[in-house]
Amino acid sequence: MELWGDGATKAWSIGFTFHDQEVPVVATDTIRLVSTGMWTPSRVLTNADLERMVDTTSDWIVERTGIHERRIADDDIGVVDMGCNAAHEALAEAGLDPSGVDAIIVSTATPDRLLPATACDIQARLGANQAVAFDLWGACSGWLYALNVARGLILSGQIENALCVATEKMSAITDWTDRATCVLFGDAAGAAVVQRSDREGRGILASYMRSDGSLAELLHRPPSSAQPIPIDIAEIAHRNGFIRMAGREVFKNAVRSMCEAVDAVLEQAGISKDDVDLLVPHQANIRIIEATAKYANIGMDRVWVNVDRYGNTSSATIPVGLHEARQVGRIRDGSLVLMVTFGAGLTWAGALLRW
Ligand SMILES: CC(C)(COP(=O)(O)OP(=O)(O)OC[C@H]1O[C@@H](n2cnc3c(N)ncnc32)[C@H](O)[C@@H]1OP(=O)(O)O)[C@@H](O)C(=O)NCCC(=O)NCCS
Repeated sequence: MELWGDGATKAWSIGFTFHDQEVPVVATDTIRLVSTGMWTPSRVLTNADLERMVDTTSDWIVERTGIHERRIADDDIGVVDMGCNAAHEALAEAGLDPSGVDAIIVSTATPDRLLPATACDIQARLGANQAVAFDLWGACSGWLYALNVARGLILSGQIENALCVATEKMSAITDWTDRATCVLFGDAAGAAVVQRSDREGRGILASYMRSDGSLAELLHRPPSSAQPIPIDIAEIAHRNGFIRMAGREVFKNAVRSMCEAVDAVLEQAGISKDDVDLLVPHQANIRIIEATAKYANIGMDRVWVNVDRYGNTSSATIPVGLHEARQVGRIRDGSLVLMVTFGAGLTWAGALLRW
């Protein structure tokens, strides 16, 4: 079998010769998700557990956030372990040997270490020795950013496939004495293998990415490498590396930016809100999800919700949601899936996918 094509002119008239017959392959101008994978820790932290840790009630948490429980990774489990678990599942479904992966793009806000990139540690663990591996800091929007970067690399002809991983150990950067934030977060990892779509109209139909760094203080995590290393215990405590958040302001911006992302991708694709089969939004708070769904005129029966079971797992929420929805048949061949997200930065993004 001999591959032929016209990459130089970017005509993408690729195909192959089989028994002396030229067999064209439809080479589209987008990418598709070939497979998905996910991993969550087995340890469950319930609202009742949190009632014993901080001054809160399960009723308050459920009413304000919709969260009932979240998963917490053991101390000896890091984001590399978590990301590899999700990646193994995605690679197995794709039937792709790690040595055939061209790029590993990892989104994490909670790296096991700051150097090297988490993606490089995942690459080594997987044995993906032919890949370029790098991290992408987009907070909760990171996985949709990664998908879009992979799309650019694939469509520009630089790579043929990519493994997009989101792996987040939010429990490691959560202040477990701060009731305003500790009820919100959990740990999870998700992954997908992507490649150029071979079916017209299938794959990522539209993408949208935005950021507003002027709102960074609303949701951030010290310390900063611009500050000298603290030598004083009090200062170390001050720069403890935990999440700090202005919840109400983040809430307002979340709804505004996710609604903007809904409009942007649907307009780009020329597709009506009515045609969306499933909305897979970032899972931070059920009220934010409901407000976004209402704006998009999508009934909650067409919205994937797992914030009740996992809390906010940052950039892992969307790949985990996609994987779960596929497993129970809510995403099938031809399903139109709208994904929207927002996070620290502030960042926000959207993508429209025809599976
Ligand atoms: C955090 C969040 C749930 C708080 O809900 P809220 O309705 O905005 O509540 P407020 O922050 O206004 O606080 C209301 C009261 O509840 C209290 N409170 C905060 N956390 C509490 C808790 N876990 N249990 C009980 N009371 C709590 C506050 O101290 C405040 O008390 P006060 O009125 O006496 O000052 C909500 O703002 C939110 O979800 N924001 C977005 C967060 C987010 O998505 N972050 C991730 C972005 S990717």
